[in-house]
Amino acid sequence: MEVKKFNQIGVSFKGSGSYVPDQILTNQEISKKVNTSDEWIKSRTGISERRISSVGDNVTQMGYEAALTAIEMANWDVKTIDLIVLASSTPHDLFGSAPSIQAKLGANNAVAFDLTAACSGFLFALITASQYLKGGSFKRAIVIGADQLSSFVDWNDRRSCILFGDGAGALAIEATNEFDNLIGFDMRTDGERGSFLNLQSKNIKDSIIDNIDFLSGGYSPVQMNGQEVYKFAVREVPIILENLFRKTNYSPDKVDWLVLHQANQRILDSVGDKLKISGEKVLSNLEKYGNTSAATIPLMMDEAIRSNRIKSNDIVATSGFGAGLSWGAALIKWG
Ligand code: COA
Repeated sequence: MEVKKFNQIGVSFKGSGSYVPDQILTNQEISKKVNTSDEWIKSRTGISERRISSVGDNVTQMGYEAALTAIEMANWDVKTIDLIVLASSTPHDLFGSAPSIQAKLGANNAVAFDLTAACSGFLFALITASQYLKGGSFKRAIVIGADQLSSFVDWNDRRSCILFGDGAGALAIEATNEFDNLIGFDMRTDGERGSFLNLQSKNIKDSIIDNIDFLSGGYSPVQMNGQEVYKFAVREVPIILENLFRKTNYSPDKVDWLVLHQANQRILDSVGDKLKISGEKVLSNLEKYGNTSAATIPLMMDEAIRSNRIKSNDIVATSGFGAGLSWGAALIKWG
């Protein structure tokens, strides 16, 4: 049986970091490729431009850069990191990219692994890492969300390619025996509605030798039923957050910031309205980055922390949602 090393009751938040590729693709530029317009994309999604990986950018590299900046903010010696969890649906290595990030960081006392839950991935990874910390097994963890969906969308499908971009974000979290700044959380999945959003393997039948088949690898581009995903998000996200407020004896008026998965400005506005959280508290940067999947929440938090919007002791309600279908929420106190 695993021996509990530390007597911990909670986690605190010590640092944030992020990274996006340099290459920018604007709406006007996409309209040279597919039949769309800046006006259509802007009014339906709020997105103006997104970052697209080029040679040298991949989930390992982006995740490493984000983790490094979070570690610098936390002022940690990399050797003191016990755990690295990478949330990604587009790893550079399908066997797992987190150990490569560990190696690049030189965090050789940490254990590192990948976790996949699409756009809910960062939240699921944060909650997973927190449980190891609260359980007393580990003290310091880096949680990363990084995705490179530009490699997996169909650049001829105007209904989906306009939405996505690439990037990474990370948080540094530490176990504490005094308080718990992960005030509460909830996680849900519904595989029955999984067909609304997929990135499936092709599994094309081929043969090894006569009479012995195998299914060749590779992935089909992202398939999305935009309207159903939209309806799912605007229905489920307010419900999971309302339930979380009830469970934790919090209410929307005690929330300083709402940090939602950055999928669509209309989804952000609708959730904010339903929860009666005023617009200026609903953080948004999707105009610049689009939907970076597992990266959106830490990318948004890092921007808000570094621009002094999210400050120590601020209450942040956050929710991730997406393929699976999966969705989750967490209420945190920054610091
Ligand atoms: N440019 C111009 N026209 C477009 C277009 C584009 N990029 N994409 C779709 N259209 C057209 C459609 O073909 C349709 O035309 P039609 O009426 O002639 O058939 C029309 O616009 C309306 O399409 P619809 O799908 O109803 O648009 P919408 O208002 O639902 O917006 C999304 C589409 C994708 C922006 C929206 O559904 C959405 O954001 N859904 C959530 C997706 C999401 O967040 N996914 C990730 C979750 S993690």
